[in-house]
Amino acid sequence: MEPPVFLVVLVLLAGAPAVLCQTNAQDVAALETVKSQWTNYPSSWNSGDPCGGGWDGIMCTNGRVTSLRLSSVGLQGTLSSSIGQLSQLVYLDLSFNINLGGPLPAEIGNLVQLTTLILAGCSFNGKIPTEIGNLRQLWFLALNSNKFTGGIPSSIGVLANLFWLDLADNQLTGPIPVSTSTSPGLDQLVNTKHFHFNKNQLTGTLNGLFNSNMTLMHILFDSNQFSGSIPPEVGGVATLEVLRLDRNGFVGAIPATIGNLVKLNELNLASNKLTGSVPDLSNMTKLNVVDLSNNTFDPSVAPIWFTTLTSLASVSIASGSLSGQVPKGLFTLPQLQQVVLSNNQFNGTLEMTGIISSQLQTVNLMDNRIVTTNTASYMKTLLLAGNPFCAEQDPSNKPFCSRQQQNASPYSTSTAQCGSAAQCRDGQNVNPASCSCAFSYNGKMVFRAPFFVDVSSSSPFQQLESTMSAQLKLLPGSVALSDIHFNSDNYLQVQVKLFPTSGATFNLSDLIRIGFYLSNQTYKPPPNFGPYFFIADPYAPLAGALGGKKSKISTGAIAGIAVAGGLLVIALIFMSMFALRQKRRAKELKERADPFASWAAGQKDSGGAPQLKGARFFSFDELKICTNNFSDSHEIGSGGYGKVYRGILGDGTRVAIKRAQPGSMQGAVEFKNEIELLSRVHHRNLVSLIGFCYEQGEQMLVYEYISNGTLRENLTGRGTYLDWKKRLRIALGSARGLAYLHELADPPIIHRDVKSTNILLDDNLKAKVADFGLSKLVADTEKGHVSTQVKGTLGYLDPEYYMTQQLSEKSDVYSFGVVMLELVSGRQPIEKGRYVVREVRLAIDPADRDHHYGLRGIVDPAIRDAARTPVFRRFVQLAMGCVDESAAARPAMGAVVKEIEAMLQNEPDDADGEGDSSADPSANEFDRPRGGGPPAHPYSDVEISRGSYAGDGASDYMPYFEVKPK
Ligand SMILES: *[C@@H]1O[C@H](CO)[C@@H](O)[C@H](O)[C@H]1NC(C)=O
Ligand SMILES: *[C@@H]1O[C@H](CO)[C@@H](O)[C@H](O)[C@H]1NC(C)=O
Ligand SMILES: *[C@@H]1O[C@H](CO)[C@@H](O)[C@H](O)[C@H]1NC(C)=O
Ligand SMILES: *[C@@H]1O[C@H](CO)[C@@H](O)[C@H](O)[C@H]1NC(C)=O
Repeated sequence: MEPPVFLVVLVLLAGAPAVLCQTNAQDVAALETVKSQWTNYPSSWNSGDPCGGGWDGIMCTNGRVTSLRLSSVGLQGTLSSSIGQLSQLVYLDLSFNINLGGPLPAEIGNLVQLTTLILAGCSFNGKIPTEIGNLRQLWFLALNSNKFTGGIPSSIGVLANLFWLDLADNQLTGPIPVSTSTSPGLDQLVNTKHFHFNKNQLTGTLNGLFNSNMTLMHILFDSNQFSGSIPPEVGGVATLEVLRLDRNGFVGAIPATIGNLVKLNELNLASNKLTGSVPDLSNMTKLNVVDLSNNTFDPSVAPIWFTTLTSLASVSIASGSLSGQVPKGLFTLPQLQQVVLSNNQFNGTLEMTGIISSQLQTVNLMDNRIVTTNTASYMKTLLLAGNPFCAEQDPSNKPFCSRQQQNASPYSTSTAQCGSAAQCRDGQNVNPASCSCAFSYNGKMVFRAPFFVDVSSSSPFQQLESTMSAQLKLLPGSVALSDIHFNSDNYLQVQVKLFPTSGATFNLSDLIRIGFYLSNQTYKPPPNFGPYFFIADPYAPLAGALGGKKSKISTGAIAGIAVAGGLLVIALIFMSMFALRQKRRAKELKERADPFASWAAGQKDSGGAPQLKGARFFSFDELKICTNNFSDSHEIGSGGYGKVYRGILGDGTRVAIKRAQPGSMQGAVEFKNEIELLSRVHHRNLVSLIGFCYEQGEQMLVYEYISNGTLRENLTGRGTYLDWKKRLRIALGSARGLAYLHELADPPIIHRDVKSTNILLDDNLKAKVADFGLSKLVADTEKGHVSTQVKGTLGYLDPEYYMTQQLSEKSDVYSFGVVMLELVSGRQPIEKGRYVVREVRLAIDPADRDHHYGLRGIVDPAIRDAARTPVFRRFVQLAMGCVDESAAARPAMGAVVKEIEAMLQNEPDDADGEGDSSADPSANEFDRPRGGGPPAHPYSDVEISRGSYAGDGASDYMPYFEVKPK
């Protein structure tokens, strides 16, 4: 005990201000004003410092707010003009908050650093402010799916960096501005790739809009009221891949220059008043989808490209005044999926002979003049109603003569494997990956120009699922697609459900992240899906809830009510009842959000307090002080979970503080469960939990400090030299810790992430198993196994668990076996693409005359001499038993302990170390620090389960296991 230190800490504690501000004062004030116009903002916004990591959705640089991302969090209210005071803001994403609306304040134009502005799927109304043209850095502008009215400001034309411009699905009117000598226009946007203006009420012509300096890929102008002719200059935009001008009022002939667009994948000019001849598309060799339906073309025969464009997947020219024979070469185009040629004058015989495209699903030739058919080799949908063919009385014609035929049913994600479990309550849905129920994040994904039309084929949609789960960092299989169809705008619409990786709800930071990925196109679908937009549904657990406080009735409203009197008093009563209910609901929600609130306030005996044995509550400020404000010099490890700091408490106890970073926080209830679990576990071979902090949006666990680093570090020679006998002792200690978890803890616990970086060594080289972050109570299980998502670390993962997702204690035994092989070899489990389990299995040679059991090339040179003993051989045999492919064949942890104890008795004794007396499961000993020792990085925990799976998730999971192909 060192009184001076103690005193200093006390003084510091007393003198610490309630909130240690890091955020620039102007930004704090701006955020407070912005917040005051919102309800249902994240509850973390009620306390702490915005930049201190406490406020969800805020990111800062040097105390200035640079990023505000609150996608999908259920915000309600309007956007304050004070947003304009966040002058360093670079990202602003408020997408998918359907109850966030009102006008977009002109002060948005003050955010001159802004590169990304995403307000998609909210309810903003009024005009798009001209001041948006001040945002010269703007790269991504998505205002789609709101209620904006008025014209497109010409000032957008000066945004020279703009890459993405999405104004679709609003109520915009007037023409698209084109530059003049005095004002800018959108023709100047030569770096923009996306013009998405569909579903508005835009008028006027497109004259002057296009030029050959442009680099547009997608022009989506469909469902507006444009007029005039299609300008020939559009054919000069050589980069164009999608051109949708359908559902407008374009007149005149289609310019011949359109044939120059050789990169085009989709051309849709349907439902205009176009005249002249059907265009020649012969040079567009990438064209997948063509729709020229419902125009007023001159009568002609079928164009030649019907039989020459081998890339075609869908051809539609309904009401196209086409006549003569349907060319039979059309049906043999290799990628063809759909033909719609209804309401033309095709006559004679329908010839579908030769090698019909195997993908062809629908041929619609209704209302033509076809008399006979030769279609025996085609088995899918064929619609011939309204042709002379169907007027005949031949009953064998009947199947083709109905106006509706059974189409192949569209793809949807199956949960059949979940059986009767596929029933969830309270708006939850079945996660196809785990068959458990959860609140999924739902939304509508709309593909504006897919390159295919067949929705019954599973492979594109399964690719959609797998790219989504990988890129959105969800577990494989936790994406469900349903209700797939082409909507009335001819967009492919898909209902998407995304499931949380653990627990039944997404936490706020995951919602924000996923919303952002889907709103700003970070998620990239497979290329044949083309451009998309996504509109999230309100997330059920947040919808209508008041995360923070005050559902306020504005003073204006109250004044109005007072004046009007009479009837309106009743309205007031209703409103206050509503407010009361909201308040109650807010309280309930708050309690759910912070189950420690009452306990932390000091009522240690209150019934609702967490059931903690020995662990105590730490305030944020207390931990901040003892880690010198979480300074880098106190950092001793980091991983997917966050960072680990060392610190010294007021009583001199050295601790390791594990601080969750915003992206990896657990729900409050999960966090409470975890600390309750950890506080119950006390054993000399397990790292003890001393306490926790749950305050100011932080989740921290405070552990005893173990001075000698991880087993991994000591094996690589960075720590103490570990001779063979020390290794045996370390194996015994960690085996005892695990055996305690499996066999003596109540309820039993499966560690789920046993590995050499989770085994720490104290001053006496006593092994202590750490990091129960992934632990799972065995009590949750039925018949001794848990069906759950795969968690763990590459190289240590039990292959049987991986394949069956059935977790049992034997999965820990497998991982422990890998650790034993690490003790033998000194190597990481996977090194240079070689997996130690396989290497040892192949090398073992019982007849080895060198007495290394065949492992001379594998054994750690540091113990090579000691390894020529029967005990070494016995150790390897035990390890191989632990990594048996069949979980049933592996020994239980208790048996492993007994076996290693026996081995140690057969080793010549020496003086060092602890006695190997029997385990003392009730021991509750905190290691006090004893002298220096290099403060290594003892708690580093790089886990695949919480880290990011860059690229495709599947390959990160499984590449090294010895899975025998069937
Ligand atoms: C394209 O850019 C060049 C160079 O800036 C300019 O001279 C030319 O007039 C532009 N062409 C069109 C069609 O705008
Ligand atoms: C197709 O390309 C060739 C060669 O560039 C050109 O001569 C021909 O006119 C083009 N045809 C059409 C219909 O654009
Ligand atoms: C063409 O018009 C018909 C009849 O009005 C309609 O059913 C069909 O959906 C239209 N097709 C397109 C692509 O607009
Ligand atoms: C089909 O229509 C074409 C063009 O209108 C016409 O020349 C031809 O005689 C018709 N053939 C039959 C069999 O009616």
